[in-house]
Amino acid sequence: MKYGFFDDKAKEYVITQPDTPLPWINYLGKDGFFSLISNTCGGYSFYRDAKLRRITRFRYNNVPADDGGRCFYICDGDTVWSPAYLPARTPLDGYRCRHGLGYSVFEGKKNGVAAALTVMVPSCVDMEVQKLTLKNETDVEKTLTVYAAEEWCLWNAVDDSTNFQRNWNIGEVEVENGTIYHKTEYRERRNHYAFYSVNCPVQGFDTDRDTFLGQFRGWREPIAVEKRTSFGSIAAGWAPIAAFRIEITLAAGEQKSILFRLGYAENPTDKKFSSPGVINKEKAKEMLAAFSTEAQFDAAMAELAAYWEGLLSRFSVKSSEEKLDRMVNVWNQYQCMVTFNMSRSASYYESGTGRGMGFRDSCQDLLGFVHLIPEKARERIIDIASIQFADGSTYHQYQPLTKRGNADIGSGFNDDPLWLVACTCAYIRETGDFTILDHPTPFNNEEGTEVPLLEHLRRSVRFNTEHKGPHGLPLIGRADWNDCLNLNCFSMTPGESFQTCSNFESGKAESVFIAGMYVKYAGEYADLLDRIGLADEAKEVREEVLKTEKAVLDYGWDGEWFRRAYDAFERPIGSKENAEGKIFIEPQGMCVMAGIGGKEYGKKALASTEKYLGDEFGIELLAPCYSEYHDYLGEISSYPPGYKENGSVFCHNNPWITLAYCEVGDGNGAFDLYKRNAPAYIEDKSEVHRTEPYCYSQTIAGRAAKTYGEAKNAWLTGTAAWSFVAVSQGILGIRPDYDGLRVTPCLPDKMDGCHITRLFRGTRYDIVVKRGNDKGLTVNGAPIQGDLIPLTDTATCEVVVTI
Ligand code: BGC
Ligand code: NOJ
Repeated sequence: MKYGFFDDKAKEYVITQPDTPLPWINYLGKDGFFSLISNTCGGYSFYRDAKLRRITRFRYNNVPADDGGRCFYICDGDTVWSPAYLPARTPLDGYRCRHGLGYSVFEGKKNGVAAALTVMVPSCVDMEVQKLTLKNETDVEKTLTVYAAEEWCLWNAVDDSTNFQRNWNIGEVEVENGTIYHKTEYRERRNHYAFYSVNCPVQGFDTDRDTFLGQFRGWREPIAVEKRTSFGSIAAGWAPIAAFRIEITLAAGEQKSILFRLGYAENPTDKKFSSPGVINKEKAKEMLAAFSTEAQFDAAMAELAAYWEGLLSRFSVKSSEEKLDRMVNVWNQYQCMVTFNMSRSASYYESGTGRGMGFRDSCQDLLGFVHLIPEKARERIIDIASIQFADGSTYHQYQPLTKRGNADIGSGFNDDPLWLVACTCAYIRETGDFTILDHPTPFNNEEGTEVPLLEHLRRSVRFNTEHKGPHGLPLIGRADWNDCLNLNCFSMTPGESFQTCSNFESGKAESVFIAGMYVKYAGEYADLLDRIGLADEAKEVREEVLKTEKAVLDYGWDGEWFRRAYDAFERPIGSKENAEGKIFIEPQGMCVMAGIGGKEYGKKALASTEKYLGDEFGIELLAPCYSEYHDYLGEISSYPPGYKENGSVFCHNNPWITLAYCEVGDGNGAFDLYKRNAPAYIEDKSEVHRTEPYCYSQTIAGRAAKTYGEAKNAWLTGTAAWSFVAVSQGILGIRPDYDGLRVTPCLPDKMDGCHITRLFRGTRYDIVVKRGNDKGLTVNGAPIQGDLIPLTDTATCEVVVTI
């Protein structure tokens, strides 16, 4: 069953009923001001950091779900309704939510009034702008009372939801001509404030939540709205809000628009106040002036559309597969932007208060983003590398606002360092910008410790070279990519974090997965060294790669597939010797991508993967699932069978298998797997899958689960980046390389060809892939040997690949 449809031309997903199985959300903003917005207009905003600069309040785990957020009420006679259905919950005569690229539109109809509410965050302005257009479709005049309300968060989202003995005393606002300013803590150490403003005269306002809502009431039925009044309340502590009341009269057939602006501004310390205690509002006023007319709003919408048009034109495909095209051309790349911006910080499942930017997460996110805005990718690589320690190990996460490593979780995830190599090489292959390797980059953000970025890569590789276990495989540390395979943890204390508990440092537990990564990425590092004239070091690294490869062949191969790890007692994990967890997905993906054991092992590993782990929605993480908790395995065995790391389809590493299929030249296998969990392909199973059909989720419950097929944790997952790599570089086969673009399509038999446009190093490549006997590549009509299109300085380049 579907709850909407893709409008490919408008690049929108159109939701046609408000009661989607879960809130289906969108992300607005690209630089500083970000908003999450659901299909019923819920969600919240923050500036840069969802924990430290939360602008509006959001109640996770709320009942009913997704209540609050942007609250609009239209009072028409006795009826009160909301254009996006919530919060009023009055049945509508018409409802549509159109989630587009960086904006969402809510079209609600009731009793002859049509409302269109467009919400967007303009480029380079720290503001969410909401345009509400009301049209009287009847033939009599109507007078409507409109309310718009937002609830402020007291900045630090953790304190905001915990420290009430203080919170209920500190809330402060200022009100001035249709603008409500939120200035909690501004009088002391904060230099920032927020505001909510309307571009037409208001008939009333409230800033104290409990006054506006009234006792025993929620956002569905505020007393102010019921009484069609406002109390002019001024918040003093408790819960400050911004609520406006606007009377609007519409002649028959008439339409009018109102702009609401939710903004954030910072002042220098010496310019904080215009008079004692009063905010210097110059910045806000400038921002508001730039968005005070409909024409300004429309221009910002056009700019946003052009921005996305430009970005998405960097890679696009036209094929016989409509669903493939919409994933590649719009939604997968859009999600790559969102994961780049958010890492794993803020979604409807990631509270924004815990993890900030993940080291391994952000490095992998870059793989699907680097072609979109290389300059931002460069800056991110430096930020990430700056939380690394001098020995090559690294903090696992950092806060986006401070860019400082997060000491609560610390380090010890031994796969982390190699991901830095992966994304830096990907960046250079995309851009040809070797100068990034010279960029002075500190360790642990300490001034004076700067070394060229190359040195960070060197230490990353060295870290794994120097931390090996009894079988010559890399030590796993706290965990590798699989955060839940905690082989040195041995926790029996309820509530103890598996991520940080490490009470049995065996110095023995090893990871075959990291070994695979080492072969792949230390190998890439060696190639990079050769290119910058460090042949001796390259040779040494290659020797280490060979040693590691041999260790995998000797101890990591189980006969039919790759093993996963060795535990603290040197026992294999992910082996036929185990009663449960006999086979895991990760080493099959990584070791085959790394080419370990060649195509012969690759094909065997893939056959076993499909046989034991394959389901309708993809490849499950392991089988059989752990049916009981084992302290020597950790969190992985804490999940009920079929969920999360214990045997769901953990979407992130499915594309590794797709790429592995490509590695062994199996286009049918690659595409078959790609389709099983690509959101657009499973749109019509939305009632089972439940999360948004336009973005990947982290997991889809596996066969052993009670809710097989149900997805969880939408949006912030490395699946976005890896799926884009799998489809663009694997299946479609367009691979950026140092000396040019490689073209190696690996299409399924059912596809006769396709047409790809790729902007690469300033040249627009127009690539036609077709089937034929005369196999090979022609560039601007001339045949060339091999699969590499050499770099050119022409603006366009015509390529034909016959497969
Ligand atoms: C989850 C993992 C996640 C980890 C991060 C665990 O509970 O299962 O998917 O990576 O938390 O802290
Ligand atoms: C989600 C985490 O963000 C990621 O870092 C990890 O690799 C996966 N879970 C698997 O545990």
